[in-house]
Amino acid sequence: MGKGKMNQIKNIKQKIDRIENDLNKRRKLKEDLVDFFAEMYVFAQQNNLDLEKIKREADKLMLTWWKNQGKIKGKDVSVKTAYKKWAKKYEENFNPLTFTINNKINGFVSNIKGKNVLDLGCGTGKHSFLAAKKGAKVTGFDFSKDMLKQAKLKNKRLKNKIKFVHGNLTKKLPFKSSSFDIVLCSLVLDHIKNIQPIFKEINRVLKKNGRFIFADLHPRLAQNTKYPLFKKDKTEFYTEKYYHSISELFRISQKSIFLIKSILELKVPKKIPAKEKKLIQGTDFFIKPIAIIIEFIKK
Ligand SMILES: C[S@@+](CC[C@H](N)C(=O)[O-])C[C@H]1O[C@@H](n2cnc3c(N)ncnc32)[C@H](O)[C@@H]1O
Repeated sequence: MGKGKMNQIKNIKQKIDRIENDLNKRRKLKEDLVDFFAEMYVFAQQNNLDLEKIKREADKLMLTWWKNQGKIKGKDVSVKTAYKKWAKKYEENFNPLTFTINNKINGFVSNIKGKNVLDLGCGTGKHSFLAAKKGAKVTGFDFSKDMLKQAKLKNKRLKNKIKFVHGNLTKKLPFKSSSFDIVLCSLVLDHIKNIQPIFKEINRVLKKNGRFIFADLHPRLAQNTKYPLFKKDKTEFYTEKYYHSISELFRISQKSIFLIKSILELKVPKKIPAKEKKLIQGTDFFIKPIAIIIEFIKK
């Protein structure tokens, strides 16, 4: 391929990136997109480029626009503010990521009757309640008072079986060494840049051979950037998300004296309700992983 054509393709790629960026910030109008892709189809046809690939890209961007109807504003907030605003609706909002993780976590918390479980970044306590139902003695820990409030409301109905503790997991954890059999940490560490000290603390509070179940957004989807976390009243709230590669997690696990027992890279299960399935059509979440779950064992 000639240098001129290569440059034209590079330009197209840059335009796609720019549009995706604009769309994420809700500034671009549908009409601009339609015009742009019409131009691109012609260009691709004239130059024997992969039309299917361009069409898929166009469909993906149009779907993003359609879902947000071009009206939604973006707002950058801190992680704490994000969860303060999201707390009441957190469990109501369908999210293919939580769906995928929750589907699997169940299997990781079998045979835990009588075990001490710590749910770090427990939020509204979904996994804390799951573990408690299976007979574990559970402690939930989170720095969002609003997320904890929702958890405590449910806990009241269960005669306060679970102990919920308020605190920041980037500080020393307020628990004795070797006091837990299992630590769960789901969808939390992607909000935190430096995770090595957290692994060390988790290792400290775990008993020997204790299990640390780490679940998160798959690293392929994470970037060090502000990320749209949820939508409320026509505003989309963006907050910090950090990229932790599998090799970084491996390195950290070695430094903090963990063995890796298993790594699961999870696609969205095919068996999701039709309404929700429709929402993620046009994404690659059924063929490439959306989530990761790693089980670490304290040496
Ligand atoms: C996406 S929610 C996950 C909640 C729950 N683990 C789940 O899987 O449904 C992330 C939670 O991490 C908490 N979190 C984020 N950073 C934290 C920190 N530094 N210390 C404690 N909790 C934190 C947030 O307040 C929020 O409740």
